[in-house]
Amino acid sequence: MSTNQIGLEKKDMTAVINKLNDLLSSYHIFYINVRGYHWNVKGEHFFSLHQQFEELYTNLQIQIDEIAERVLTLGGTPLHAYSDFAQHSSIKEDKGVFNGNDCVRGVVVGLQALIEEQRGMSAVAEEAEDQGTADLVDGYVQEQEKLVWMYNAFLG
Ligand SMILES: [Fe+2]
Repeated sequence: MSTNQIGLEKKDMTAVINKLNDLLSSYHIFYINVRGYHWNVKGEHFFSLHQQFEELYTNLQIQIDEIAERVLTLGGTPLHAYSDFAQHSSIKEDKGVFNGNDCVRGVVVGLQALIEEQRGMSAVAEEAEDQGTADLVDGYVQEQEKLVWMYNAFLG
């Protein structure tokens, strides 16, 4: 069979699966960065930021699972080792950040990186006629664009 279980050409899936695994890696690194902000943030905005970061990483965790399961649906294997995530992520680890504004800036930088990566992902998926993957990441982009505005509003 030249097609996978959902009727897409297997030969076109390699690029989509590789991109999804890169994206999965970026989400994992961003996820652990945001957990760090949630734990370490200090100062007058502690209660609101601590809570806000928890909401954000909880949502990222759901998206991580959706991306990994999309890889499986397409016939691939999701990456599942931190060493691979560190290698494939477009987002850098952000350690030892305590100041509220610095944490929020880290969130904005991470969201902007995800948005850019997903725009590229969407184009690759459409090229392979994989509208399901394109729609999945387009939905994330819309949500994250709004979050960029809100976190930037916090920064003034
Ligand atoms: Fe917590």
